[in-house]
Amino acid sequence: MKVLIIGSGGREHSIAWKMQQSPQVTKVFVAPGNDGMLGHAELAPPLQTHEEILSFIKQESIDLTFVGQEVYLVEGLVDQIDAAGYRAVGPTAAAAALEGSKAFSKDFMNRHSIPSAAYQTFSDQKPALEYLESLTAPYVIKADGLAAGKGAVICENLESAQNTVQQMLSGEAFGEAGKTIVIEEFLTGEEASYFVLTDGQDFVSFPSCQDHKRIGELDTGLNTGGMGAYSPAPVVTPMIEEKIIEEVVKPTIAGMAKEGKPYKGVLYVGLMIHEKNIKVIEFNCRFGDPECQPLMMRLKSDLFALSLAVADGTLTEQKVEFYEDAAACIVLASGGYPQEYEKGKIISGIEAQPSDDTEASSAQSCIFHAGTKLDGSVYRTNGGRVLGVTALGKNLEEALNNAYQIVTQIYWQGVNYREDIGAKGLLHFRDNRPEVSVGIVMGSKSDLEIAKKAAAMFDRFGVGYELCIASAHRTPERTRNFIKNIEAKGGEVFIAMAGMAAHLPGVVAADTTKPVIGVPIVSTLQGMDSLLAIAQMPPGVPVATMATNGAVNAAILAVQILSLRYTDLRAQLRLYKMEMKQQVIASHHAAQLG
Ligand code: AMP
Ligand code: GLY
Repeated sequence: MKVLIIGSGGREHSIAWKMQQSPQVTKVFVAPGNDGMLGHAELAPPLQTHEEILSFIKQESIDLTFVGQEVYLVEGLVDQIDAAGYRAVGPTAAAAALEGSKAFSKDFMNRHSIPSAAYQTFSDQKPALEYLESLTAPYVIKADGLAAGKGAVICENLESAQNTVQQMLSGEAFGEAGKTIVIEEFLTGEEASYFVLTDGQDFVSFPSCQDHKRIGELDTGLNTGGMGAYSPAPVVTPMIEEKIIEEVVKPTIAGMAKEGKPYKGVLYVGLMIHEKNIKVIEFNCRFGDPECQPLMMRLKSDLFALSLAVADGTLTEQKVEFYEDAAACIVLASGGYPQEYEKGKIISGIEAQPSDDTEASSAQSCIFHAGTKLDGSVYRTNGGRVLGVTALGKNLEEALNNAYQIVTQIYWQGVNYREDIGAKGLLHFRDNRPEVSVGIVMGSKSDLEIAKKAAAMFDRFGVGYELCIASAHRTPERTRNFIKNIEAKGGEVFIAMAGMAAHLPGVVAADTTKPVIGVPIVSTLQGMDSLLAIAQMPPGVPVATMATNGAVNAAILAVQILSLRYTDLRAQLRLYKMEMKQQVIASHHAAQLG
């Protein structure tokens, strides 16, 4: 069987990689594809129009065409392939309007009571601007038509919202695609992507996934096609997944069929999840890119067999299986992307990677190429998003570590990737942390203000603590009881704060086998007395000594100790470091130093 995949990015590479593993498939073509796919597919000759694609399908007797990219679908490629009597995976133009027209998709959801943001549609400025006045910031304005993923604009104030409305409706921003707009309610929560393959009646679900759309770490900066993705997305709990299926997937498939536009192909549900509530942000009519890459790596079943069943309307006979492993994809982009960037940079570090592995089905990692060009024996960059480094792991953290380990071996001038892919997902792994993890003991009430700084850090990290005032000299019994009590509650670290002849940390350390962090408090002798008292512990009774009044660092060190055991704390610490980095850079800019 011969397969043709339409598109050129990492998504299409991962589809080709999976298709060629099917025992039924003899040849995979990709059009236009990119050179990096050559290990898994053949590139079709340049095909400019739908007619040229159709001629190629006829000439090569292609058994199945899988359309990866939305623009072909919205412009009716599948209608043409169907009409010529060939098989295709993807919705018809009428059904692809779920992505191709935001106004259609919002009205459709409204008609079928599918949960989504409140909205109104406009083609004229005056009522649109009046509607804006009735809303509060932030404002969400979307071009009706396709706009290469840039058609949704979130404005923090009324003035920029008014400008956006004017630029879209005048055609200045997105041409025809923006001449109708949707203004909708701003949704808060955590995003996730959910994919199903449907033949118009039945469907099979893929595991949950999450994409990272912004270019910058901590979700800052411009929107991109997606800078990384991971699966499963812990925000999609079994209860949420059931809601997605019952409240969105089923009514969408049934609704499209009822309206005479049966939806066949990949349905992409972009969701905002807030506590127990879900709302659809958008529908897309194809796999997400990069989401497709981790999903293809997790797919155990034969993608070709599933695709054929979608095209033939026999999906009900198919069972779909996935690997239990988690998967993560890190996108490596050209410096400057999503704005202007240079092409042609030599890529080092990918020659020996397992994407060339012929035993692809057992691969633990794959480098999917989104935009590369072969130049002799080297790859050069040839796009904004260049590579999708994708790896499996027994859990999300391991999958991320495996992917990042490969990423660090790859280099080209200006290479850019986010270091926080998946961290948001790891925050969900709270792993039954005890109610109290840290005991903070201080020698005097006057130390309380300093202790509160440590407490604030623990609040931020979601680490439980208890505070106690106890004196090493005056209430040794009370100190001992506090230690016992904290340990009984599952406490794993102690912080002891004291000024002057600061014996308290030593007394705590003498009484526990847990790590003790000492914070010298400034009193007489500018705190040097307590600093030396705490640092000079006898051998065998260590106290990790902070700087004077160093309560914040004591708390961070405690979190670091706890993070050896708790996944979410490791992720939080990574994000915290990124926040500090961004603050330094922001202060540089605020000081107008360039
Ligand atoms: P879209 O093109 O509709 O996928 O929107 C792109 C991105 O904008 C989404 O992934 C969200 O991050 C954000 N977004 C879109 N609509 C909303 C909304 N109503 N509320 C909050 N964020 C939104
Ligand atoms: N990764 C988002 C998209 O493919 O639209």
